[in-house]
Amino acid sequence: MPLDHYVTLGRSGLRVSPFALGAMTFGKDPGAAGCSVEESEKILAAYLDRGGNFIDTANFYTNGHSEKILGDFFHATKKRDRVVLASKFFFNMFPGDPNGGGAGRGAIRKQLDETLRRLRTDYLDLYWMHNWDRNTPVEETMRTLDDLVGSGKIRYIGFSNVPAWVTAQAQTMATLRNWTPLIALQVEYSLLQREVEGEIAPMAQNMGMSLVPWSPLKNGFLSGKYRRNAVVSDSERAKFVQPPTEDQFKVIDVVTNTAELHNTTAAAVSLAWLRAKGAVPIIGARKLEHLISNLEEVTLTEEQLEALDDVSRPSLNYPAPLHGELRAMLQFAGTTVDGEPSAIYPPLLQSATRY
Ligand SMILES: NC(=O)c1ccc[n+]([C@@H]2O[C@H](COP(=O)([O-])OP(=O)(O)OC[C@H]3O[C@@H](n4cnc5c(N)ncnc54)[C@H](OP(=O)(O)O)[C@@H]3O)[C@@H](O)[C@H]2O)c1
Repeated sequence: MPLDHYVTLGRSGLRVSPFALGAMTFGKDPGAAGCSVEESEKILAAYLDRGGNFIDTANFYTNGHSEKILGDFFHATKKRDRVVLASKFFFNMFPGDPNGGGAGRGAIRKQLDETLRRLRTDYLDLYWMHNWDRNTPVEETMRTLDDLVGSGKIRYIGFSNVPAWVTAQAQTMATLRNWTPLIALQVEYSLLQREVEGEIAPMAQNMGMSLVPWSPLKNGFLSGKYRRNAVVSDSERAKFVQPPTEDQFKVIDVVTNTAELHNTTAAAVSLAWLRAKGAVPIIGARKLEHLISNLEEVTLTEEQLEALDDVSRPSLNYPAPLHGELRAMLQFAGTTVDGEPSAIYPPLLQSATRY
């Protein structure tokens, strides 16, 4: 799906490209599998040239360097107001300050001010809570985020890596108290990580939130460069992660065969599968050629989508297995701006037994 076929994010009027660009790999930092400022700028320019408008970063990516690279780039190109700029709070960037991280009132404000400074902007389009702060009441977090929307410093909000029950509590509270609702959930989701389909995806569908998958290629495993018993030489990430298991290679085999049939890349097939679920994946590229390869366009047939579903089917936690398979992930973000649904699935009840 081309980057300029914008979709609305969650139950909101925010129009984003069907693939976001992740900036976790922008900048050099010990322990991060990143790239140079020059390469980051090439990747950004190529993404924007194709109509891309949705950029994802976080306060602690490459220790703040990622945000600075984005801030300098948009300042120089004067394109800040053309993009949907998203960042995250949670990880403590203030050594020694117990209120420098997490999701308390003061901590969020302090983190946001630093993020805005590095990004050289006075507002964020979307502000994510990066992780669940189990020590802060979720109503304190939601009220603070609502105040920040009111002040104009942020426009929309989302959660990442938060349990379904906490998210449902927060969204219900926001609805009843007239606070700003969550419009998206950033979750690990790929052909090699589908547990989100148990609780989080049906909740998101029901409560007006899009799924925005991170690591959509499972750290590059689904990019096509991982082969059995072969060392992956051109990879920074491979230095930090264990190689794929035999079970994961069974999925990779089907992805690779499907890519060959379409004369495209394994990465493009893996991302097309996520798009067919109605999700808005975040592309992670360490090199310009990764971005180009990942953005190759491919339309998978129903049979191919089913084959990919079959080989990657996860074992979900109780009680999800009792409820039938959720083929349709999201009605939101599956709708293009002109109102045409980009993916239609039968409602869940059609797959349930009738008496
Ligand atoms: N909310 C969260 O907790 C969270 C967590 C993680 C990520 N994220 C977000 O999600 C974004 C994407 O995550 P990710 O970087 O883990 O995504 P990913 O697509 O699973 O992995 C990206 C890595 O795979 C390799 N790769 C990607 N495309 C390739 C290609 N075509 N050919 C060969 N290798 C390729 C590259 O690593 P090598 O070249 O080094 O092998 C690249 O850095 C991040 O930038 C960030 O914005 C969020």
